[in-house]
This record gives sequence, C-alpha cells and structure tokens, in this order.
Amino acid sequence: MGSKRLMLQNGLGSLIKEEAPQYGRFVDLFSGASFVAWFAAQNTDKQVVAVDLQKYSKILADSVINRTSSIDIASLEQIWIKKAIAACQKTKLYQEAKSLEGKTLTQERIKELRLLCTKKSNAGPLWNAYGGHYFSPTQSLLFDYLLKYLPSDKTQRTVCLSVVIMTASKCAASPGHTAQPFQPTRTAKKFIREAWNKDPIEILKVELEQIAKKYAQRKGRAIVLDAQRFASQLKETDLVFIDPPYSGVQYSRFYHVLETIARGKVQSEIEGIGRYPSIKERPQSKFSNVGQSREALDNLLEKIAMKKASVILTFPAGSASNGLSGRKVQNISRKWFKVNRRKIFTKFSTLGGNNEIRDARKNRGELILFLTPKKVKPSK
Ligand SMILES: C[S@@+](CC[C@H](N)C(=O)[O-])C[C@H]1O[C@@H](n2cnc3c(N)ncnc32)[C@H](O)[C@@H]1O
Repeated sequence: MGSKRLMLQNGLGSLIKEEAPQYGRFVDLFSGASFVAWFAAQNTDKQVVAVDLQKYSKILADSVINRTSSIDIASLEQIWIKKAIAACQKTKLYQEAKSLEGKTLTQERIKELRLLCTKKSNAGPLWNAYGGHYFSPTQSLLFDYLLKYLPSDKTQRTVCLSVVIMTASKCAASPGHTAQPFQPTRTAKKFIREAWNKDPIEILKVELEQIAKKYAQRKGRAIVLDAQRFASQLKETDLVFIDPPYSGVQYSRFYHVLETIARGKVQSEIEGIGRYPSIKERPQSKFSNVGQSREALDNLLEKIAMKKASVILTFPAGSASNGLSGRKVQNISRKWFKVNRRKIFTKFSTLGGNNEIRDARKNRGELILFLTPKKVKPSK
C-alpha cells in the first residue's frame, strides 16, 4: 500500500503545493491507499475528493480528508480497544486458539489451527474467512472484535476502521499484498511464523497515534465510484490527480482482505488458496484489462478535457502489465491536453533537470505529467 509516499517527498508533493492554489478542488480519481489525498488535504486549503472502486480506499481517505481536527486517542483506547480485547479474550475460541498457537508451529499445527477456524464465529468475518491463513487465529479473532466494537460516532468509527485496515495490511502473512497467503511449506513457514507473531494491538496503537494527528484544512469526502462516472461531475476549476492501474491483474484481487474488513462482511463462500470471495464481490476495472486499458484511459482523459479541468498524472515510465506504458500514456495525454510539465521520479533522485526520460527507461522511473486544457473537439 502507498506506493506514492516516497514520490510525495520527491517532486509530486511540491507540484501539488505549487499548483493547487490556482484551483478550486483537488480530485484524486484512483485514490488507493490515499496518501496523495491525505497530502493534498493536509497541505492545501482545497476541498479534496477521493474516488476509488474499492471501499477500503474510501475508508482510508475519509479517515483524514473528512476531518478538520485531531482525534482524542485516549478516549478511543477506553471505549474501543480495551472493550474489544476484553470481549475477545473471554471467548472459548480465543482460549483454544491461544493454547494451540503456544506450541511449535509445524505443518500439522497449522492444519489444526485452520481446522479450528472452521468452527463458526459470529463475531465478524475474519476468523472463518482468513484465520490460519492470512492471520493467526488469535489475530483474526482480535480483528473481528475490533470491528464489532467500533465506536458509533461516525468520525471516530471511520478513523478506527481505517486503523484496523492498516494494521491488518501490516500483519498479513502474505508477500506484500493479500493476493495469496504464504503456505506452510518448508521455506515459507518462517514467514508465517513471523507474521503471526506480530501483535496487532501494538501495531494498531502506533497507526492510531499517527492517523489521529492528521486532518484536512478543509473538509473533503471520499466515494466508491468508477473514475469514468465521476469524471462527468468534474469542473473547470478542478485539479485532478490520476494514478491509474498499471497492473494487468485486478487490484481487487490484491486487496480483497482489506475490502472484507472495510465492508465488515463477506457475502459469498471464501474459496481457494487465495481465500477469495466470489468475483461478484471483487470490483473489476477496465484499466486492469490488457484489451481495454488504452481505451479506458483515452475515454477518461477525453471526459476530463471536455470539462476543461487540469490533471497531474503519474505512470511507470516503462511498460506496464496492463498493456500501457509511459510512452503510450504520454501520447494519449497529448491528444487531449497540453503537456505543461514532464518529470521523471526515480528512487535514487529528486525531480531535477537531469532526470530525463532516457534515464528513466533504464531504471524504470515513474512519469509525472502536469496537463492543462487545450481546445479539443469531442470524438464522435
Ligand atoms: C495504482 S493504484 C492507485 C494507488 C494510489 N495512488 C496509492 O498511492 O495507493 C490504482 C487504484 O485505482 C483503483 N481503480 C481501478 N480502476 C478504477 C476505476 N475505474 N475507477 C476508480 N478507481 C479505480 C484501484 O482500486 C486502485 O486502488
């Protein structure tokens, strides 16, 4: 999560701070982990609107952009965390899980723990869906109780839910995202042990402390919607941020665990090695489809150009697995906009004059384009 964090400190952040004052709103059309939406909300006095197909992204965005003051974490500790832990630790399932988890983690033990998690729990969705897979049984039950005891106040609830999402993402026994959990093979068992040894409450408190002090200068909002559909609501005075998918695999496949947490339930049977819910519950994007991504970006940029809004667009400079590339993205952008500024971000350098496209092709940097309206005719 949050691939844009480093980029914000190296060029993207200063571009947003420089340009935002000329516009009315900052609209992030593919908000994902929401670091860019948070940045704009904290560092500019513009209203931030964050859009994404996935609900977990809306929760993360709203936890900062929808608030204009800090949050009192001492009271959340009392009314939420302590209650959830106490209720969880009282359960028979927790006690059974705790005693089994205390023994050496062998392949057999993992099978036993997975079997334990097939016992029905009504506390929340994680125990039955992911216990013994992405999370240890005790971790998953704790997450369920944290969800069950979320505060009723809307703002507090959003902040606490976002913190559970971030904590789960840090605890998951999977390689970097939640497409598939580690399996108890001879080589991967140590990664399961490492992840299951993490204390969710310790991580959660750190996350809560960090998020509580972040807030927007002006109250914004996040919505779950297709970027194409939101584009028809854009205004000439909007500064639109576009960080579209570059993967040919649907993002909902990578983040389905976080999505379950955000929704608080899974409607369908969880299946297979990846523990996925049915495809109907996983939003599908044309931008992650090799045959449709080019047209999807073209249509989106056309819609934005018709509204005469300006755009900051980021995309990998090289080729991406969804069939797009930095070069193709620039060509499509030029069709509808004037490319006002073009920079390359690399891990090793800030955005200076020496970061030419040629260098980026070598080290696979990321393109940043600032696009302003030009006179365009709508396509037929
Ligand atoms: C490259 S990621 C954005 C990453 C984000 N800037 C960050 O730093 O985490 C792409 C995001 O676009 C979302 N997405 C994909 N297709 C979309 C669509 N048609 N409309 C809105 N969001 C979409 C995905 O759910 C994913 O969160």
